[in-house]
Amino acid sequence: MDKLEQTVAWLKQGLDAYGQDIVLASSFGAEDVVLLDILHQQGLDMRVISLDTGRLPQETYDVMDKWRKKTRLRIDIYFPDASDVEAMVKQDGVNLFYDSIEKRKLCCHVRKILPLKRALSGAKAWVTGLRQEQADSRADMQAIEDDKVFGLKKFNPLIMWTAQDVWDYIQSNDVPYNALHDQFYPSIGCAPCTRAIAVGEDPRAGRWWWEQDDAVAECGLHVSPIKK
Ligand code: ADX
Ligand code: SF4
Repeated sequence: MDKLEQTVAWLKQGLDAYGQDIVLASSFGAEDVVLLDILHQQGLDMRVISLDTGRLPQETYDVMDKWRKKTRLRIDIYFPDASDVEAMVKQDGVNLFYDSIEKRKLCCHVRKILPLKRALSGAKAWVTGLRQEQADSRADMQAIEDDKVFGLKKFNPLIMWTAQDVWDYIQSNDVPYNALHDQFYPSIGCAPCTRAIAVGEDPRAGRWWWEQDDAVAECGLHVSPIKK
């Protein structure tokens, strides 16, 4: 079985086991548009959720909208709770993430983790675009895992794909993708917390790039941002 067939098999396995209780979490980054395209092309009816933190780059909204128009897949966008954001900003300001790791973690908690909990409530399993090759913090991840943080099964059906596999798929299937990828953004999150990388830099070096040794470039959706 090649990697694509294996990915399709895992997605079908998830749907067979969980039906409408399995959801794909999509940030519309390169990996996630591959998964969307596979679902779309294979006619796999999996609900898609996406977290709009309120701080996304315009290019992410553009690709989100392209997909909304292209596919009949159900894509539900979740937002942070307005009163949580207001309280946080009143206390710490709109750009609190630059002040300390704790404040960055708080912002990710309010704008990503709590909305993800809401998006996954009622679900029994979720699907992500994580790949082992993306970071040391992801090297031990498996295709199907127990997610202890969210108390669900977690499917990572691209786990063995390389960046080259992802881009080969996007190009040969003419998949709509985030325009920032063409401007040296291999990994895309919120606008104020993502920058382009230089040649030879780690692919995740553009995420929370100002943070130093005691943090890992993670937001807590998958791995804690604080080193143990
Ligand atoms: S992050 O933890 O650093 O933000 P990354 O951007 O690498 O994660 O994305 C890894 C996976 O997390 C994506 O493939 C997707 O499944 C999920 N994910 C990340 N950001 C979002 C988002 N805004 N909405 C939905 N899912 C997301
Ligand atoms: Fe906030 Fe930055 Fe985390 Fe987005 S990535 S939720 S703006 S700290």
